[in-house]
Amino acid sequence: MKDHVLIFDTTLRDGEQALPASLSVGQKIRIARQLAQLKVDVIEAGFPISSPGDFISVETIAKEIRGPIICGLARAVEKDILSCAAALRRAKRPRIHTFLGTSTIHREKKLRRSQDEILAMVAHSVKLARSKCGDVEFSAEDAGRTERDFLCKVVETAIGNGARTVNIPDTVGYTTPEIFASIIDDLMNRVPNIDKAVISVHCHNDLGLATSNSITAVKHGARQVECTINGIGERAGNAALEEVVMIMNVRRDYLGVTCGVETTEIMRTSKLVRDVCSMPVQANKAVVGSNAFAHSSGIHQDGVLKFKSTYEIMTPQSVGLLENKMNLTSRSGSHMVKTRLASLGYDDKSIDLPAFHAKFKALADKKGTVYDDDLVVLMEADTVEEMADTYRLTYLNVTGGMGIIPTATVRIASDGKSQQEAASGDGVVDATTRAIDRVVGLAIKVKDYHLDAVSEGREALGRVKIVAVAPEGTFTGVGTSTDIVEASAKAYMDVVNKICRMRKYAPKLRGKRARASL
Ligand code: KIV
Ligand code: ZN
Repeated sequence: MKDHVLIFDTTLRDGEQALPASLSVGQKIRIARQLAQLKVDVIEAGFPISSPGDFISVETIAKEIRGPIICGLARAVEKDILSCAAALRRAKRPRIHTFLGTSTIHREKKLRRSQDEILAMVAHSVKLARSKCGDVEFSAEDAGRTERDFLCKVVETAIGNGARTVNIPDTVGYTTPEIFASIIDDLMNRVPNIDKAVISVHCHNDLGLATSNSITAVKHGARQVECTINGIGERAGNAALEEVVMIMNVRRDYLGVTCGVETTEIMRTSKLVRDVCSMPVQANKAVVGSNAFAHSSGIHQDGVLKFKSTYEIMTPQSVGLLENKMNLTSRSGSHMVKTRLASLGYDDKSIDLPAFHAKFKALADKKGTVYDDDLVVLMEADTVEEMADTYRLTYLNVTGGMGIIPTATVRIASDGKSQQEAASGDGVVDATTRAIDRVVGLAIKVKDYHLDAVSEGREALGRVKIVAVAPEGTFTGVGTSTDIVEASAKAYMDVVNKICRMRKYAPKLRGKRARASL
């Protein structure tokens, strides 16, 4: 299929190389299963010779995962290729991927081999791999920095000896889109047997060009792209699968190619890789970042409410999200506020929108993000000052550690008085919330607890977001501190104060609350 691009996922091999510790077999299987759901064409499951654990992972994935081709990596040496073939024994659709450095730097400094010796190694390793497996891929490592004439000879030799796929890696992320395009053009025009193989590309992101280089190569005839979920991989990572795939989808008009990936599985896969690999995804990451479908500016929110495509080039549903996110902040205009109120059940014509919007802005200036629970209470408060906190945490002391029962002591001020309580719990955060409960006497159940670092290093600020349920509704509390227990306590106190406000306004809210879904 001339216009079909194969998606080769190397999250479990190149991606795993970037992690501080190897993934277990179980973790790799979980990711491989999801990659099969995502319908990638090839899963590079690992590098069997690199460790006994990796051998078992490749072997298990080869045995259990059906659908995609299962591929193993091998240097262009006999023992690697034999080990790779053994690990892939039970695969329904196995592929051996063998590679060798071809640039001057790799030949002279790392391998200490002449060009002729390299060509002989290519021929020998591909032939050996083909004797063990019908599907062989050869990679000219550091192709991006390899002399053009020599690269053409390497590719011709690999294809001549049976490679069905020749991969052109920009191993160190050094090329730029135009230069990479000219490499692909040269191979297309100068390698006599090029029509016998698929040209693949494998771009690293050292200069932030991995996706650009990959897509440019596709425009120039590459028909396999090697990439990873969330772009994880050696150093600055690899081309991100979600970016490559969504560019091919969104810009089909320009690229004219298709791929078989089930895009609605992208978000689920991204989250799984993030969690299993403990590699957070930056908020503004294309396609899968938490802000990728969030609108904050008033002008943008107004535009999206009128017609989604004004500021959305792809739908959140196309990558597996339920809907976009409209952040209510001081930048939100009255159109946005009115729409959110309506979604909460407040669509009476009697609302004085300009006055409410002014009140909303005052609150947003104080708080940053305004959540739905704030909005409901604000509907009933005459002024923002009325929404002052009932309780204030003035002291927190926790003890915890191995072999110590976690305990917390809190002092909370309210109405000119101060009250102190202590509690033990299942960890210091739990002990803290129990001690707070003793003072405030509310029935709160934490439904979701999320901790993020908002700055880097040992002194990083931790931001805790708690979603809690109480008889009064569901509430979101946020707290920030360099101490994560303190950040948790602040977030919990935020919830407590929101519940108090909700109670204060309950008589007015009754009736309306039946319609308001928080
Ligand atoms: O970056 C690279 O060159 C590689 C090869 C093994 C394909 O990962
Ligand atoms: Zn790589």
